[in-house]
Amino acid sequence: MNTKSIDIRPDSRKDAEVIADVHHVAWHATYSGIIPHLVLHRMVGRRDGGWWANAIRRLTTVLVAEIDGQVVGYATLGRNRARELTQQGEIYELYILPEFQGIGLGTRLFAAARSKLAARGLKGLVVWVLEDNFNALHFYESAGGVDTSEGVEVFEQKALKKIAYTWN
Ligand SMILES: CC(C)(COP(=O)(O)OP(=O)(O)OC[C@H]1O[C@@H](n2cnc3c(N)ncnc32)[C@H](O)[C@@H]1OP(=O)(O)O)[C@@H](O)C(=O)NCCC(=O)NCCS
Repeated sequence: MNTKSIDIRPDSRKDAEVIADVHHVAWHATYSGIIPHLVLHRMVGRRDGGWWANAIRRLTTVLVAEIDGQVVGYATLGRNRARELTQQGEIYELYILPEFQGIGLGTRLFAAARSKLAARGLKGLVVWVLEDNFNALHFYESAGGVDTSEGVEVFEQKALKKIAYTWN
């Protein structure tokens, strides 16, 4: 039997390049056909290893999901940025490489991110999801998120609706 080790851990500065790679692949897989191609290409291009190293240095909390030592997903989290919502914590991003989706890693990473926010004394949690990202809507609804608010994200000429899921 082939036993795989799964680990959720805080990032370190040496993870910047590999998180940039995961981000690149996961964002193209998730948003191709949703976010206009050129805009997506530019957004992803800006987030290279240097960008991630800087984000990590500036104390954005990043968690990574590893299988047998390979980083296959990440989550970024911190204070809620939307003043109209009372929840104090937010998961800004949570992405798993396509070939590792659907095997429970997202659920584990989400639970670890929630625990991390709670340990920092932040009560309640918000996650924003583009309305066209059906897999993510299903994932957060399965995780007990309540559809609480709506907003719009503008990608150059294209305005996309987003939904805030909250947990108290
Ligand atoms: C959404 C995402 C984080 C879920 O993580 P995951 O590891 O694939 O999900 P899990 O294996 O833990 O599954 C958890 C639940 O989500 C559902 N789910 C996961 N992937 C799904 C998919 N592709 N389609 C439909 N449902 C899916 C599972 O059925 C499960 O629901 P259940 O408990 O009712 O059976 C992951 O698929 C991902 O990274 N997607 C692309 C990026 C993204 O959209 N991120 C969120 C942006 S805010």
